[in-house]
Amino acid sequence: MSDAPVVRFEVVEGIGVITVDYPPVNALGPGVSDGIVAAVDQGNADPAVQAMVLMGAGRTFIAGADIRRFGKPRPPSPRRSYDALDESAKPVVAAIHGYALGGGLENALSCQWRIAVPGAKVGLPEVLIGILPGGGGTQRLPRLIGAKPALEMIVTGRHVPAEEAKALGIVDAIIPGKDLRAEAIAFAKSVIGKPMRRISAMPPAAAEPGLFDDMRKSIARKARNQKAPYNCIAAVEAATRLPFPEGLAEEKRLFQELENAPEAQALRYAFFAEREIARIPFLPKDLALPEIRTAAVVGAGTMGGGIAMSFADNGFPVKLVDASPEGLARGLQRIRDNYAVSVKRGSITQAQMDERLPRIQPVERIEDIADCDVVIEAVFEQLPVKQEIFARLDAVMKPEAILLTNTSAIDIDRIADATKRPQMVAGAHFFAPANVMKLLEVVEGPRTAPEVLGATMKLGRAIGKISGYAGNCDGFVANRSRIFFTLEQNIMVEEGALPEQIDKVMVDFGYPMGPFAVNDMSGLDVSYFTRKRRLAEDPNYRTLPIPDRLVESGRKGQKTGAGWYRYEKGDRTPQVDPEVHRLIKEVAAEQGIEQRPFTDEEILHRLLFASVNEACKIIEEDKALRASDIDVMWLNGFGFPRYRGGLMFWADGIGAEAIYNQIAAWHQRYGDRWRPSALLRRIAESGGKLREAKAPRLQ
Ligand code: 3HC
Repeated sequence: MSDAPVVRFEVVEGIGVITVDYPPVNALGPGVSDGIVAAVDQGNADPAVQAMVLMGAGRTFIAGADIRRFGKPRPPSPRRSYDALDESAKPVVAAIHGYALGGGLENALSCQWRIAVPGAKVGLPEVLIGILPGGGGTQRLPRLIGAKPALEMIVTGRHVPAEEAKALGIVDAIIPGKDLRAEAIAFAKSVIGKPMRRISAMPPAAAEPGLFDDMRKSIARKARNQKAPYNCIAAVEAATRLPFPEGLAEEKRLFQELENAPEAQALRYAFFAEREIARIPFLPKDLALPEIRTAAVVGAGTMGGGIAMSFADNGFPVKLVDASPEGLARGLQRIRDNYAVSVKRGSITQAQMDERLPRIQPVERIEDIADCDVVIEAVFEQLPVKQEIFARLDAVMKPEAILLTNTSAIDIDRIADATKRPQMVAGAHFFAPANVMKLLEVVEGPRTAPEVLGATMKLGRAIGKISGYAGNCDGFVANRSRIFFTLEQNIMVEEGALPEQIDKVMVDFGYPMGPFAVNDMSGLDVSYFTRKRRLAEDPNYRTLPIPDRLVESGRKGQKTGAGWYRYEKGDRTPQVDPEVHRLIKEVAAEQGIEQRPFTDEEILHRLLFASVNEACKIIEEDKALRASDIDVMWLNGFGFPRYRGGLMFWADGIGAEAIYNQIAAWHQRYGDRWRPSALLRRIAESGGKLREAKAPRLQ
């Protein structure tokens, strides 16, 4: 840590320039807020200063409060920077580049003027870490731009681009940003002598009737079990009925309810876990990574198309090749349709679609992709098919090209066997729909070169994904940690729990849909064929007679109008079906399984403890690097409720010892599938935290 001051003050041509310099993102870490206060006081005391500028050094303005300091005791601050800026006798101009988020925007709102460079973003994203803007943002923003847009920004936490911020009235001017400091000084000179514009002096914001109740209703489903979004609404509501000082007091009260609540702890944990997952400590720090500028995708099916879209969406030219011209044409049409739906929904503009679509270049022959820096194979999930493609890629691709396979389970090394450059081969496991889901598992084969692993992790981030390391094993990390969840889900039905009860337990827990409804949506036939294949390979494989029987009777899910549930024509709402109850009872009787009632807690624990146990085995085998990586995978690959932090974070809430004891008891009762992990036992015995578990290779 350098000794340089985190806030600098200098006087340039009568303007006091306050520069926050606290890398990497100028969060309001130790000394920053006090530094701003001192600088504002200095500017006010100096007769040579007529106005001031508040700006950030480096890549950004101020990214908000220092999240690492939440939940810990903080020394009380005699005066907050928000108050010092607000009370300043001389005007202060906030000059925004990069991000003005949370406490960053709140400091800017406490200034009299705000200017921003094109491409800058502003926002109050506190809700995303389970709190609310506690630096006066809930009181100032509604007064400045009106209750409705302020409420929307605070409840969603979205980043607002500078141009929109100007239209909303959050920033007063867009400056070119070629020389931020000089332009900010020039702007500050132009406001000298103009009337002071303190937002705190404005009356409460007006709100149309029903605004807050409507917002509460509209978030009810998504925000169930959460408190922060509701406290955000209450705080903005206060800005419409209370004078400023009372509004601030109400904001503080609502903030304090949230800061140490389990929801905020879980969301803070998720924030840092999503950054930690990017690090692979055993890769040399000075490893030179090959530059990736051009990409190709082999296979224009749903997955290949989604992967190509991820490249195009993030500015990469990408070539798309398929085994047949018809397949390629169908794939391209699907991509066009997907983009058109996004335009219709308003998630992208027509101009964005027109920019992205031409980045995807269809080509007819595999030779046409030879000069690409990376190729991702996304063909049928069968080893011989993949090996054939890799042999052809090996023959045509330039020697330095990285060869990636999008497999969800096949041994990367067997695929690499088909090439003479196994060191250039790695796995890139995308999750469907590939252009939407954030998770990318980067699979290291035993012969994958470190540069290839590092470059693939980096590539994932460049195309908007959260890249996570996975070792080469059946199902890799994410799917492998979920296999036992899926198994228990089906076994409990044999034993007497009904699909709708299990689904309700998981929806109440926070999943957007229950696992059986999800099965119906994705189709029961896919896993049916996987089970048949596995049984052919291993006669001891545990079959699932109930879903097998459903598929064999034509119930393949939504697409056939029936699966675990029944569906009315044109309606995707699952309807409980007595026919399924009858079939379950019939199969249980045939198998001699005695049925019994289940409590909701037993259902939840059977599903999630099974996965906690497997997650521990994956870590102890060095296949996942950290428990927190698995949490990130569950949040971004499987829809695990974010405000519960992730599988292992949630498990810590119950405690490793209690989980171990339960698993040991189920091991006695149900046999080998519940064999407890040695790592879980060690953590239970030592009283440690599951979420802190690390692979042996990191210790
Ligand atoms: N506090 C502490 N550390 C932070 C931070 C913050 N507010 N914001 C970012 N960081 C750290 C990250 O952990 C990361 O550290 P690492 O290099 O050790 O992993 C580093 O800064 C760079 O961050 P990113 O990797 O996320 O960089 P990006 O360029 O991808 O994104 C960003 C930049 C958009 C600013 C993103 O970091 C972000 O969204 N940060 C959080 C913003 C936020 O939530 N602000 C509100 C805080 S709460 C608040 O202000 C309360 C107030 O109302 C009182």
